[in-house]
Amino acid sequence: MEIENIFAARRSVYALGNEQLMPKDDITSLLEHVLKYAPSAFNSQSSRMVILYGDAYHKFWNITMKMLHKITPPEKLDSMIVKINSFQKGLGTVLFFEDENTIHSLEKQYPLYAENFPKWSQQSSGMLQYMVWIALSAHSIGASLQHYNPLIDDEIHHEYDIPDNWQLIAQMPFGSIAAPAADKTFIPINQRLKIFD
Ligand SMILES: Cc1cc2nc3c(=O)[nH]c(=O)nc-3n(C[C@H](O)[C@H](O)[C@H](O)COP(=O)(O)O)c2cc1C
Repeated sequence: MEIENIFAARRSVYALGNEQLMPKDDITSLLEHVLKYAPSAFNSQSSRMVILYGDAYHKFWNITMKMLHKITPPEKLDSMIVKINSFQKGLGTVLFFEDENTIHSLEKQYPLYAENFPKWSQQSSGMLQYMVWIALSAHSIGASLQHYNPLIDDEIHHEYDIPDNWQLIAQMPFGSIAAPAADKTFIPINQRLKIFD
């Protein structure tokens, strides 16, 4: 596929299925490759990932549903349940973390840039998230980006024995594409881009 088409084909896919289009081990290898080659400030490699499959994956969304039940207003309960159930129907979920120890040691090592490291860490995570999203999409695996942190942080750290210094940034449920994403609108590109030649 042309690179332009790869970018255009990546969408937020919420209607997931569990058709195993790609063996689980191949998905893991693909995501390992992405994690290895994603760029990071000062090559700090501050990003961490957890891939959940099978029971571990279903448990994640059960925990998230349980926590959401506590804070969701009654009139929004039905749509919340539909959304979380759609993530439960997929193949797995990627959790994205940033390692706070790496960030703090960079702040000490390079005091001149200290205030930038937390921002660069977030940016590095965003790049990794996008690379994972593109890699899955290029293999016809649908995914979306979710943010149930910090609501779920304590339970997730406890359940999966995640180190305290790994800060949860985002969650990406993925699976086969049960229904395509709806059309989306675009602001004219000339309102967003300036070119000087
Ligand atoms: C930084 C960032 C945060 C996002 N957070 C969420 C989120 O919490 N929940 C969600 O359903 N989608 C989230 N999205 C997805 C956007 O809503 C989506 O990318 C956008 O509407 C464009 O649609 P597309 O992904 O299908 O191209 C996020 C996207 C970005 C880049």
